[in-house]
Amino acid sequence: MSDASSMDIRYDWRGQLTSKELEGLHAEAFGHEPADVDWTARLHRHSLGWVCARRDLRLVGFVNVAWDGASHAFLLDAIVCAAERYRGVGTELVAVARSEAAKAGCQWLHVDFEDHLGAFYLESCGFRPTSAGLIRL
Ligand SMILES: CC(C)(COP(=O)(O)OP(=O)(O)OC[C@H]1O[C@@H](n2cnc3c(N)ncnc32)[C@H](O)[C@@H]1OP(=O)(O)O)[C@@H](O)C(=O)NCCC(=O)NCCS
Repeated sequence: MSDASSMDIRYDWRGQLTSKELEGLHAEAFGHEPADVDWTARLHRHSLGWVCARRDLRLVGFVNVAWDGASHAFLLDAIVCAAERYRGVGTELVAVARSEAAKAGCQWLHVDFEDHLGAFYLESCGFRPTSAGLIRL
């Protein structure tokens, strides 16, 4: 990572977190009011794992890795708090997710994203573009 301050951040695979702190981060990133979401139950039930980034115990970044129980893992909810962006934290979160999914035996890591995040996912995190589809249910 590029500067001294970003080296003070600790990254934990399946790190402990509270639903309240994750919902706070999610609400800030996606511009909604914090809701009463049981994130910890959801993560333990449906995820291969997740990565927490903490500075001085404060949750400053998160990414969730869902999976099919076999070779496909899916990146969801990559978030870095506004004060820590553009310092490589998001890229490192994805690198840890990628490494842990590979260790778990996954062969593919999928992500979908809006066009403006192409530089982040394709250039910085190493994804290659592919066709994908989506239906709103
Ligand atoms: C997307 C996000 C996680 C990136 O986190 P980050 O820590 O700032 O990312 P990095 O510092 O590792 O970025 C690496 C590179 O990706 C690109 N990039 C990062 N965020 C970007 C953004 N929001 N828009 C366009 N390019 C971006 C830049 O090229 C950046 O390199 P630079 O700092 O030299 O310009 C963060 O902006 C975020 O939380 N956004 C709100 C939530 C969101 O939209 N998540 C994605 C869900 S699909």
